[in-house]
Amino acid sequence: MKVTVVGAGNVGATCADVLAYREIANEVVLLDIKEGVAEGKALDIWQKAPINLYDTRTVGSTNDYAKTADSDVVVITSGLPRKPGMTRDDLIQTNAGIVKSVTENVVKHSPNAIIIIVSNPLDVMTYQAHITSKFPRTRVMGMAGILDTARYRAFLAEALNVSPKDIQAVLMGGHGDTMVPLPRYTTVGGIPVTELIGKEELDAIIERTKTGGGELVKLMGTSAWYAPGSAAAQMVEAIARDQRRVFPVCVKLEGEYGIKDCYLGVPVILGKNGIEKVIELDLNAEEMELLKVSEGHVKEVMNVLDNLA
Ligand code: NAI
Ligand code: 2OP
Repeated sequence: MKVTVVGAGNVGATCADVLAYREIANEVVLLDIKEGVAEGKALDIWQKAPINLYDTRTVGSTNDYAKTADSDVVVITSGLPRKPGMTRDDLIQTNAGIVKSVTENVVKHSPNAIIIIVSNPLDVMTYQAHITSKFPRTRVMGMAGILDTARYRAFLAEALNVSPKDIQAVLMGGHGDTMVPLPRYTTVGGIPVTELIGKEELDAIIERTKTGGGELVKLMGTSAWYAPGSAAAQMVEAIARDQRRVFPVCVKLEGEYGIKDCYLGVPVILGKNGIEKVIELDLNAEEMELLKVSEGHVKEVMNVLDNLA
């Protein structure tokens, strides 16, 4: 299994590191346009192998896609992160150009790869990669739902003073303030969360989750990377090991949930072919309404992208 991570910044380097120390791939290529940075980080991760005991080879590349040839999975993290006061959508103009040119190179050198987008605005960058690559939707997807759900699960674990391992949950919709949390599908060791926490406290956790990315941007002056990098690596693992994990993933909807031609986070089964199946939950009217609001927002930003071209 060969995996390329494009963008050796905070998220990309973290993702490559997790892929290596968890031996998710035999070879991880880290690529960036900044001279020497990807080579340096790849070498640093390789020098950690004798300490953390793994075999994965990490290779760096300054914009030389020949080194990425025939990758099975490519994670695209290249692009600007948010600064305080910015929304993810403010990044569209710069990041659309970056994601387009990176995807063209990926298609040329790894025509059979599965592409995982991380760059923001996530849902619309997934759209960009999909139309540029012309790959089937099963092989072009975005990472956001695992991260958003992890934030929700972490906040719940803290509030209930239980292990985060025991919190199961799913969030849907776009990666932004219109994401759709689903308390009805949240359990703690199999117990519905609503039996363990009051509505007011749960609502506050949901609100904190929606703005969870912004909370970190405010604290650090740039966006998060440990959880995002690990979340992208978890998607690669599901594909590499054909785990058929059930994760919320951004994918083009083709009629599921009554939505067409929109890129939104929905639960899917992730395995060796990429998106093996889109799972359709039986949403109630209130949840469906929230998903529609999210669809409307993502479609607006997709229109912005269409008008850039
Ligand atoms: P960063 O600034 O640390 O790293 C980005 C890297 O991309 C830089 O090293 C830069 O040189 C590189 N780059 C720029 N243009 C390139 C190109 N054409 N080819 C190859 N590399 C190129 O940023 P960070 O924090 O790693 O974030 C990366 C992206 O991921 C941002 O757009 C951020 O908003 C997004 N993000 C998305 C998340 C999600 O849940 N989907 C979570 C966290 C970040
Ligand atoms: C996050 O949610 C900025 O999308 C990034 O941390």
